[in-house]
Amino acid sequence: MSLKKSGFSTRAIHSGEKHEETGSVTTPIYQTAPFKFKNAAHAADLMGGRMKGYVYSRGLNPTTEVLEEKMADLEGAEAALAQTTGMAAISAAVFTSVKGGDHVIADEVIYGSTYDLFIDLKKFGVDVTFVDTSDINNVEKAFHRNTKLVFFESPANPTMKLTDIKAVSDMSHDRGAAVMVDSTFMTPYFQKPLLLGADVVVHSATKYLNGHGDTLGGIIAGASDYIKSARHTAKNIGGSITPFSSWLIIRGIKTLQIRMDRHNKNAMAVAEFLHGHDKVETTLYPGLPDHPQYQLGKKQSSGAGGIISFLLKDAKDVPVFLDSLKMCTLAVSLGETATLIQHPATMTHAVVPREDRIKYGIMDELIRLSVGLEDPEDIIDDLAQGLEKI
Ligand SMILES: Cc1ncc(COP(=O)(O)O)c(C=O)c1O
Repeated sequence: MSLKKSGFSTRAIHSGEKHEETGSVTTPIYQTAPFKFKNAAHAADLMGGRMKGYVYSRGLNPTTEVLEEKMADLEGAEAALAQTTGMAAISAAVFTSVKGGDHVIADEVIYGSTYDLFIDLKKFGVDVTFVDTSDINNVEKAFHRNTKLVFFESPANPTMKLTDIKAVSDMSHDRGAAVMVDSTFMTPYFQKPLLLGADVVVHSATKYLNGHGDTLGGIIAGASDYIKSARHTAKNIGGSITPFSSWLIIRGIKTLQIRMDRHNKNAMAVAEFLHGHDKVETTLYPGLPDHPQYQLGKKQSSGAGGIISFLLKDAKDVPVFLDSLKMCTLAVSLGETATLIQHPATMTHAVVPREDRIKYGIMDELIRLSVGLEDPEDIIDDLAQGLEKI
């Protein structure tokens, strides 16, 4: 079946699916570590790379392959690779992209463990400069002769600032560096970084792609040659995803469009409520017209997503507010059916030294909210009663 002219949901449901042999309508879970060789010559051909096929699930698994083909199609990529977590995907992608002696430019506001990974890279002789990539002049000024990679999230976790994917990609390519975008907050439904000029897109599939908060996963998508190298690196690191997790994420992706539309609609209603509230200092959501990069958001993404950050007026009110909530769940992670709320300074970004954190705008007063799929009035009611307590 050709999906060339199909819309997003049709592709999300059908792309990569192969169930001809048994007639199974859903993708089977190939819960096996090794695959049987037909004979010694077949084994030698597979192991020698002269023939493509299944050998061992750390390298290739038919269930995971469906997920990889589906994600490649949705991102407009030549190929994709699935890993056991978002961090396994980001680590494998970064190790594929740089070597000792190279220089990386990374946005200063990124997920805490990714920030920590870049700090760790210094041990391997890779120098990293953190800048605010939302201003392209900072990126340009940070370039060295040996800069090989520019990395950012857009929107950035947790300050929700945006980086101009096309402008940074064009400028970086002129200077010989590749661009890697963590597009977890947007998913390919709202944003396709590769079509905007980026070289590699990474995701925590734990979030919206799976969508139900019941497994971890990660995705790398890009050019075939790049994914071939990444697969080699990833096989040696060993962060392969389990077939069951791949299956859960495949199932999640089939409803991605309807979930993202609802997350977006709910988040807009919640952002408008927070924006006008006298206990809230600032609301950071790219869908609000007073977000500093509202126009850029409109240009490079077809939706603003389901994540809102907001600042209370006083940091000492943060625990009072969080502990008063009755339905919104105090937990890290994001992008699932339930509304999750957390305090980056003491939770997801606790690894970033306070001095740097404050400099980057990850203030002690900042709260991140992953707006779920509940009825928006119920989310707003819970936040309203929590704000009343401070
Ligand atoms: C933007 C972003 N990227 C990457 C990750 C890491 O993903 P995982 O927890 O699946 O390793 C996270 C986790 O919260 C994230 O928010």
